[in-house]
Amino acid sequence: MYSVLFKSPQLLVRGPAFSTSTMAQSAISRITVIGGGQMGSGIAQVAATHKHEVTLVDVSQEALDRGKSYMAKSLKRVAKKKFAEDETAQSQFVDEIMGRVSLSTKPQEAVSRADLVIEAIVENIKVKQDLFAQLSKAAPQHTILASNTSSLPIGKIAELLDEQRKQRFIGLHFFNPVPQMKLVEVVRTKEVDQDVVDSAVAWVKAIGKAPAVCKDTPGFIVNRLLLPYMMESIRLLERDVASAQDIDTAMKLGAGYPMGPFELCDYVGLDTIKFIVDGWHKDGEGLKGNPLFSSSRKLDELVKQGRLGVKSGKGFYDY
Ligand code: 3HC
Repeated sequence: MYSVLFKSPQLLVRGPAFSTSTMAQSAISRITVIGGGQMGSGIAQVAATHKHEVTLVDVSQEALDRGKSYMAKSLKRVAKKKFAEDETAQSQFVDEIMGRVSLSTKPQEAVSRADLVIEAIVENIKVKQDLFAQLSKAAPQHTILASNTSSLPIGKIAELLDEQRKQRFIGLHFFNPVPQMKLVEVVRTKEVDQDVVDSAVAWVKAIGKAPAVCKDTPGFIVNRLLLPYMMESIRLLERDVASAQDIDTAMKLGAGYPMGPFELCDYVGLDTIKFIVDGWHKDGEGLKGNPLFSSSRKLDELVKQGRLGVKSGKGFYDY
């Protein structure tokens, strides 16, 4: 569990006095990403590709090495397309970008010079709250703190922070695979300052992505629409309306989606989908008890059997 990192004594590194007007104009150049999984390493990769100085943080060297290898693999893929005939240029491209990424197992130290901190750790509200409580003691006052959560309320993640930090706390929700998916949802809480939203939007554009600003409500935009679609697809299968393959073919060829719903469920992870819908069905603002967000017998069974999708080698399909 990630929380082990935050039992060390707090670092009392203080940044310059906070000034809203000056920070709105200052460029974000130093990024710290907490969590070296697929999402975190993807965010680190994209920021480094766009010339940012990035520190990637995780609990162990092993986790960091895994994150580094995700980045290297993805960058090699991009390099092969960019410099198809030139292997030297390919490795230079990868090395140059990887050279801008430092690895760290010390989160407080890693945020002490950051303009922007993006958290992409386990979807557990308590762990995230504790993490930010620790980070806020070490980050400069101007730092924007952000969460990449896909389903937890951004305002609640910031709950333990003081008012000034809450004004500089935002949601930045990326999509998988991060290097390829263009969208970032910029999620505004009730407390966040407008200049922080503006800075976040500007930064998202600076890393070559497209921002969509939205309020802090369950699922923001994409997952609020995607999750019922996935769950309705599973219910079609349960009712034996069509096979998973035919439903996937129908949505790819009839609606132009790049993946069918079952391919997408397997790609996202069935445990993740179950976790999100269960959470919202239980106490999601405005969604509690809504049957569109209830789990399904089929989904529960697959998760129980460990068929979690691509990552476990089996889900709706075998890989
Ligand atoms: N790194 C770098 N590039 C990558 C990549 C990666 N990890 N994965 C894919 N790509 C690139 C490929 O190199 C290729 O580039 P090109 O078009 O310039 O040649 C392009 O993406 C297409 O890849 P492929 O040809 O290998 O395969 P596909 O055409 O099948 O595309 C896909 C793969 C991009 C994943 C596509 O199927 C897709 O867009 N699927 C939908 C993904 C989606 O909906 N994601 C959102 C999930 S929900 C979410 O993330 C929210 C969370 O909170 C749950």
